[in-house]
Amino acid sequence: MIASNKIINFNAGPAALPQEVVQQAAEAVLQYADSGTSILSIHHRGKYFLDILEESKQLVKELCGLNDDYEVLWLQGGGRMQFAMIPMNFLNEGQTAYYIDSGSWASDAIAHAQLYGNVQVLSSSKDHNYQQLPEIPSTITSNAAYLHLTSNNTIYGTQLQELPTVDVPLVVDMSSDIFSKRIDYSKCSLFYAVAQKNMGPAGATLVVLRKDMLSRIKRQLAPILDFKKQVEKNSVLNTAPVFPIYVSLLTLRWIKEKGIEQIEADNRQKADLLYAEVQRNTLFNCQVEDKDRSMMNVCFNGIDKTIEEAFINFAQENGCTNIKGHRYVGGLRVSLYNAISLEDVKYFIAVMQEFELSRH
Ligand SMILES: Cc1ncc(COP(=O)(O)O)c(C=O)c1O
Repeated sequence: MIASNKIINFNAGPAALPQEVVQQAAEAVLQYADSGTSILSIHHRGKYFLDILEESKQLVKELCGLNDDYEVLWLQGGGRMQFAMIPMNFLNEGQTAYYIDSGSWASDAIAHAQLYGNVQVLSSSKDHNYQQLPEIPSTITSNAAYLHLTSNNTIYGTQLQELPTVDVPLVVDMSSDIFSKRIDYSKCSLFYAVAQKNMGPAGATLVVLRKDMLSRIKRQLAPILDFKKQVEKNSVLNTAPVFPIYVSLLTLRWIKEKGIEQIEADNRQKADLLYAEVQRNTLFNCQVEDKDRSMMNVCFNGIDKTIEEAFINFAQENGCTNIKGHRYVGGLRVSLYNAISLEDVKYFIAVMQEFELSRH
């Protein structure tokens, strides 16, 4: 069989990180810089960590092409905490928040928002099993609190090609495609992304918001849930998740060195090769609408359940792990985040071809 002595982790999150990032993180666990102690034990208000925080915030702005009109926060609580914090902070009495329902994460965000005020779902692709993106209306009533979108639907393998231009604050969940390609981040009033896909380990969530959003906050909130307080306290209102933020900084440095344009070109090539093989291979097919296919999460099916199960085992035996589709949808899902190389994808395609030969 195909020789491989490495394991390729195609998980959708927590996902594979660049090997050099993992190496540097491991060294920092033993000792951080000249601190004489592990990164796991440095003080979250001390100089070492404040430097990490500052560099990471500057790098985020640089990579996103944003100026000082934006604030960068590192928070905890993952994507779901943002599903709650966004309406708590920005959906005031008498207003409506608009949502696009493009998948389970989007509909979970909707369910959270409904706890805090009026919500209108402008469009949904639920009736198409989320295998295509819903339309985004171009005109939206201007007194809307905001419009919320999910840019990449991790479970279904659909992705917005470009952010829309709308005249209400645009809020985007970019958890599974941030830093994967050039994006016009300046269209957003707020965007957020969990670390555990394209940035680092679980435990930190990146939130970037335009400063003018802060004046819209009217509710009395516990400080930990209040964006104004989090900005005032520079993300160290409570004990910050030092290690996930540090690993995210290492990944941001890696992204900067590689360059977003190169990353996008690689991601495009990786996805094109894999979708082409899914189409060619007699044992697989992809139900996701062509124009909406994700570069990050390639979701496809075997021609029947037996083939899917056999292939998951075959891939595992050949070093390709975590390719089972999300439990809501089944099938197969191969996540091609930035740390997955073109060689990894070519190897996976060779495994698919070998599997096909073995079944005929
Ligand atoms: C697009 C998207 N949003 C939100 C989440 C939820 O993140 P968490 O598990 O940190 O709440 C996920 C998780 O995979 C996701 O893919």
